[in-house]
Amino acid sequence: MPMITFVEPDGTLREVPALAGESLMAAATRANVAGIIGECGGSAMCATCHCYLVSGDLPAPGPLEAETIEFVAQNTRPESRLTCQITATEALEGLVLQVAPR
Ligand code: FES
Repeated sequence: MPMITFVEPDGTLREVPALAGESLMAAATRANVAGIIGECGGSAMCATCHCYLVSGDLPAPGPLEAETIEFVAQNTRPESRLTCQITATEALEGLVLQVAPR
């Protein structure tokens, strides 16, 4: 079960376990990580799961994720990601994500 670190908007570090196969948005909302809402249920429409990749490796965003980051998310950066589109695997152990401000 990979442990993912989220940096909440006030700077608090939250280490959250993610179940293999679930999205990081699901792991974050289960743990009540501040600033991660998941309003659309994980269909890459709302960008309320927007984070910045701080450290760790992820595959490049798919077309739907990239489009929502471009047209829906606020305060985007090159390292912007939608956590609902990232599936937890053991390879993500130690990943660090910063919750994007809204
Ligand atoms: S939960 Fe809506 S875009 Fe990720």
